[in-house]
Amino acid sequence: MPEPLIALRDVSRVYRRGADDVHALEHVSLTIAGGLFAALMGPSGSGKSTLLNLLSGIDRPSGGDVVVAGKRLNDLSEDALARWRSRHVGLIFQFYNLIPVLSALENVELPLLLTALDRRERLARARLALDVVGLGARAAHAPAELSGGEQQRVAIARAIVTDPDLIIADEPTGDLDARNADQILRLLLELSHELQKTVVMVTHDPRASEWVDIVFHLEKGVLKETYAGGAGKARAPATGGPP
Ligand SMILES: Nc1ncnc2c1ncn2[C@@H]1O[C@H](COP(=O)(O)OP(=O)(O)O)[C@@H](O)[C@H]1O
Ligand SMILES: [Mg+2]
Repeated sequence: MPEPLIALRDVSRVYRRGADDVHALEHVSLTIAGGLFAALMGPSGSGKSTLLNLLSGIDRPSGGDVVVAGKRLNDLSEDALARWRSRHVGLIFQFYNLIPVLSALENVELPLLLTALDRRERLARARLALDVVGLGARAAHAPAELSGGEQQRVAIARAIVTDPDLIIADEPTGDLDARNADQILRLLLELSHELQKTVVMVTHDPRASEWVDIVFHLEKGVLKETYAGGAGKARAPATGGPP
């Protein structure tokens, strides 16, 4: 059995709000094997975004261990976390977060500006990433000249251009119609199953569970249920769930 890419052990996150403590996550334990497509589901306020922020090293737990790609993230300094994130994690958001004055190609190139690559290499990799999402022909277009679905595909190209192990997506289909949402889900599935990326997605879309290998259901900060999604049932037994 390979090492899981993600291992959370007894993870809690408490926010202070005035005199109150908000228990956003309570004693969550789960593992996700490399190359799986996982969904986090649950009502608003159940701790989904908090969990994503811990996995991507944007935030740190109040208790428990967060181990991603062989690294215990708890102990890293802010700077070390930022460096770790730039190498291991690609982020995708509901509203794409593209820079309007840059072309699709330049948007995808952005994360590579933090690397030692020269401009020629950066642009070659950005073109390759746009090809992977099927938008090679739109490289020179500005975001406003692209549909919502195409903008989200540019954002996915930007997330994979650094070749991360982990792709984190917070409601990536939340602003799209059903047809475009399906295209995005199919693309995320391909990234996990064909390019061996581990994809963790928060979604409210009940149809999304048919596309993923495994679903983690949160309620009030507690992991209530773990079950196989449609893609998981279709192939080898999904590995995941509590260790
Ligand atoms: N920075 C914060 N400060 C205080 N409370 C927060 C903060 N972020 C989230 N919360 C609270 O933590 C709980 C979980 O929030 P969140 O992870 O955003 O849930 P979800 O993404 O499932 O809607 C909610 O009660 C929310 O109000
Ligand atoms: Mg949220």
